[in-house]
Amino acid sequence: MVCSVYAFDAYGTLYDVHAAVARYRDEIGPQAQALSDLWRVKQLEYTWIRTMTGVYRDFRVLTAEALDFAAARFGGISPATREKLLAAYERLDAYSDVKPTLKALKANGIRTAILSNGTPAMLAAAADAAGLADLLDATLSVDPLRFFKARREVYELVTDHFGVKPQDVSFQSSNRWDVAAGAHFGFRAVWINRTGAPSEYDDMAPAYTLPSLEPLAALGG
Ligand code: LAC
Repeated sequence: MVCSVYAFDAYGTLYDVHAAVARYRDEIGPQAQALSDLWRVKQLEYTWIRTMTGVYRDFRVLTAEALDFAAARFGGISPATREKLLAAYERLDAYSDVKPTLKALKANGIRTAILSNGTPAMLAAAADAAGLADLLDATLSVDPLRFFKARREVYELVTDHFGVKPQDVSFQSSNRWDVAAGAHFGFRAVWINRTGAPSEYDDMAPAYTLPSLEPLAALGG
């Protein structure tokens, strides 16, 4: 299979979602990691429930609501810390393998894109902060659709934008549920299993499982 387009999930795949809390670990205290984990879990839950009910709020709003829940669960944070965490979420660290991988793909003539639940403004800010903007041919946000992954129409944003078939697209995500939906859609789905998570969704399996993005360019088209 020759893939001319490589599309990447953003949060967890390109950007470390725990980088915001990591920057303010000391002011949050010993519950910092648990808070960060629950923040992510609730953020994703909110996207799924709002997709199923059709009652849309954008990803920036849901990210703040999820932080408020997680903070309340773990004893609260000050308004100043809350503002710092939300600002940090707009400038998350990219994993160290992201830039070299995108550069190698671009050198091979591959077209690259982000496909994400994030709002266009969040995704633009994150790519600018990480110095990725010049390495991406498209930033595709669910926001105009007013629902989130894992609806089929989200994955169609890639094929529609580039005028290609699903099998022409290599889709990378660290989120196994996102990989399942991408594989079901017909992408060559590549699970970037950064945390060594156990396998799941065996009937919607990835074409490849990699520990990071680093081996990706060597897979070839
Ligand atoms: C995204 C979420 C799923 O970037 O991480 O779409």
